[in-house]
Amino acid sequence: MKPDYVRIFDTSLRDGEQAPGASMTSAEKLEVARALARLGVDVIEAGFPAASPDDLAAVQSIAAEVGQEPVAGRPQTEPPIICGLARCTRSDIEAAWIGVKGSKHPRIHTFLATSDIHLQHKLRMSRAEMTARAVEMVTFARSRCTDIEFSPEDAGRSDPKFLYQVLEAVIKAGATTLNIPDTVGYTMPDEFGALIGGIIKHTPGAKDVIISVHCHDDLGLAVANSLAGLRAGARQAEVTINGIGERAGNASLEEVVMAIRTRGEKIGLRTGIDATQLCRASKLISRSTNYPVPPNKAIVGTNAFAHESGIHQDGMIKNALTYEIMRPEDVGATQTMLVLGKHSGRSAFSKRLTELGYPLEGDALLKAFNEFKKLADRKKAVHDADLVALASDERSPAPEFWTLEHLLVVCGTTDQPTANVRLRDPDGQTHSHAAVGTGPVDATYKAIDAIVRLPVTLLEFGISGVTGGIDALAEATVRVRHEDQRSSHGHGADTDIVVASAKAYLASLNHVLSRTSSGHVQHPQRTSAPTEVSP
Ligand code: KIV
Ligand code: ZN
Repeated sequence: MKPDYVRIFDTSLRDGEQAPGASMTSAEKLEVARALARLGVDVIEAGFPAASPDDLAAVQSIAAEVGQEPVAGRPQTEPPIICGLARCTRSDIEAAWIGVKGSKHPRIHTFLATSDIHLQHKLRMSRAEMTARAVEMVTFARSRCTDIEFSPEDAGRSDPKFLYQVLEAVIKAGATTLNIPDTVGYTMPDEFGALIGGIIKHTPGAKDVIISVHCHDDLGLAVANSLAGLRAGARQAEVTINGIGERAGNASLEEVVMAIRTRGEKIGLRTGIDATQLCRASKLISRSTNYPVPPNKAIVGTNAFAHESGIHQDGMIKNALTYEIMRPEDVGATQTMLVLGKHSGRSAFSKRLTELGYPLEGDALLKAFNEFKKLADRKKAVHDADLVALASDERSPAPEFWTLEHLLVVCGTTDQPTANVRLRDPDGQTHSHAAVGTGPVDATYKAIDAIVRLPVTLLEFGISGVTGGIDALAEATVRVRHEDQRSSHGHGADTDIVVASAKAYLASLNHVLSRTSSGHVQHPQRTSAPTEVSP
């Protein structure tokens, strides 16, 4: 690698997924991993295999499907490195290795805290014991895999002199990347830059390995700190799409990448990211985690390139450089294109999906095409965003325990809204129920609750138009919390907002069932009110 090249290590699937309620299904994780490979990230941290058998299986499938071949039509000649996280224990490291070993370029990432606060209160270890454990576990990891990353957790609050000693020891034990986390987002950019500079200067062997930065955003400084670390000599940035992650999140991939690119003359670094894929990746992550992107979010927010005031609009008309430091097309934020209508055939549909990065085949293509035809009948023109919504449903379908067979809603200004719902259970039996509610969606959810009888609380409900216009496809998103305190989300798209809402609610219940019953639907007695919020 040239000395100015910064490796982009995406941890949306690991640290990002640690954001409360952001958990993704294995199919969603695979879809995200494909999008990351298209984006051109160098390393995908695919998960924490020791956390659960599901996490391990998701990492294995990413290793096998995304970590084997480079993405066709992209400049990268090699597939991304697939990395698995492990605490400094043999069983974690073994699980991480099982997760990633099916990829062409596997990496094990192991971590142990170095700050006195963590050593005394969490690990109850002395500095010497910590160093010995780190060396032992890096040596063990190295017996499995040649690419080893080590992170001294809470490095931002650790004694730098102790860090130099630990890092020197793990380099000798075989670590090839040293990642320096500001775990609690505490440092200031000048401090973090100095920490990285100090590590490179004072740690014997540091110049022969890659130094990485991993910054959290508790004080809103994650991107600034990452850039300071890179300018001080780090050559890997650990980031997440949309900045998702624990608490206030991680440094955002799109912000780090576009700062490096837009201020290239000052920063003097580069990455291998295809920035035109940024908006698409952002939408996919937002959809998969049910974390909305604020409209004013840098780079990928819907207003990031909108100019409202007259003075700005006047300047833009005269010369876009007056108020625009990046072009919307540079980050893939160009207007949706009008592409297909009701007369378009299956091959045009399939070709457009492939161009959009959502290739479908076989039954999935047929199902999506049928949905497209129904949509094209109801809408004059189908936009790219509609196609992406249809294709995403097929590419990462929610587990189907219960399916919606029939929905009839009566509502208006006089009568109480009433919903008639018929669902099909996993054994093929149908169940019907009618319920009244404060609105059509509330009535529908009450009828669904009466049939499915899962002890959940509705936490969030949102609905938005995928494209503009009265005939737009509506996308509903729902988050529910099960009595085990874990939350699950679901989406549903339809031109009818009540049908979209019903599909989203069922998808969230199906997610709960996929976690709690491994396919077997039980009918527990309700232990809490069916809904906390009336949509
Ligand atoms: O923030 C952190 O310290 C981490 C480590 C596991 C790298 O996420
Ligand atoms: Zn982290």
